[in-house]
Amino acid sequence: MNDIPKSSAANAVDPAFRRDILACFQGERRAIPARWLYDRAGSELFEDITDLPEYYPTRTETALLEKHCGEIADKGGHGKVVVEFGSGSSTKTPHLLRAVQPSAYVPIDISGDFLRDSAAALQEEFPDLDIIPVEADFMGDIHLPEAVQNSPKFGFFPGSTIGNMVPRTSVDLLKNMRRTLGENAMLLIGMDRVKSEDVLVPAYDDAAGVTAAFNLNLLARINRELEGDIPVNEFRHVARWNDNYARIEMHLEAQEDMDFTIAGQAFRIARYETIHTENSHKYGERDARLLLRAGGWAPIGEWTDPQDYFALILAQATPFNTAP
Ligand code: AVJ
Repeated sequence: MNDIPKSSAANAVDPAFRRDILACFQGERRAIPARWLYDRAGSELFEDITDLPEYYPTRTETALLEKHCGEIADKGGHGKVVVEFGSGSSTKTPHLLRAVQPSAYVPIDISGDFLRDSAAALQEEFPDLDIIPVEADFMGDIHLPEAVQNSPKFGFFPGSTIGNMVPRTSVDLLKNMRRTLGENAMLLIGMDRVKSEDVLVPAYDDAAGVTAAFNLNLLARINRELEGDIPVNEFRHVARWNDNYARIEMHLEAQEDMDFTIAGQAFRIARYETIHTENSHKYGERDARLLLRAGGWAPIGEWTDPQDYFALILAQATPFNTAP
């Protein structure tokens, strides 16, 4: 495994974080990009979420992979270089790696620490596999390591992470992946289905309060990194289904009128105002295929659980100008 140099500014505050947070509180629309939920504490809380009884996506997707990885690898191509976008702790990856038998594995993640730890753990499980982690934001330009540039790629984007983005951004990302992965690439993507609110809402507002802690950690992070004094305990976690947009929204709702400071600037929030912190879009069968096609990918296989809660879709890179 190649070593990623630890950045000397590991403890410095990301200027983009500061910019996004100040913009949220200065602006009319109180919204913060969901990526800021995932600092070390947030990433660990998300791992806890995946074990919750109400949170069906992770275990459903993992079971689908376990059951169908042989068929997926047959259709997607054995021996291709597996490139995982937003690999996190890479817990679902072993099934895919065992089936695809890739010549190399390239996990891409924005959190360098997390990436290094999970790549090291995976290397123990697959001692002969060439693991080449890339620390990058997959929304931006990605430079794949020299060693894999001429091999066909098998992209892997599990976890319904695409649901975090609004459709326009999802399409941008899919096109970006297509560019990064090149001709003859395959993409295996996990997408969460539209389903009953009675299943969706508890998945994002669990009885044990782990999702609430995950959401509220964002305020704690602001206080920690930007010298804020937001009264975290005066906010309530809210998860609601927005049917028009087919998405779950997470908000933080102020329970009182409050004054606080962030990075030396004074702000005010009124009781019952909310800060929008995350979207989780859900896709029906045709919605999912349309989104993939819009991003330059032709679906060639689809696997879902008996309740149709979650779908794994395999798609092939298409030329952009396809005649009608
Ligand atoms: C990591 C984006 C897939 O939307 O289900 C889980 C994030 N937020 N519970 C999701 C999340 C609250 C999760 N994704």
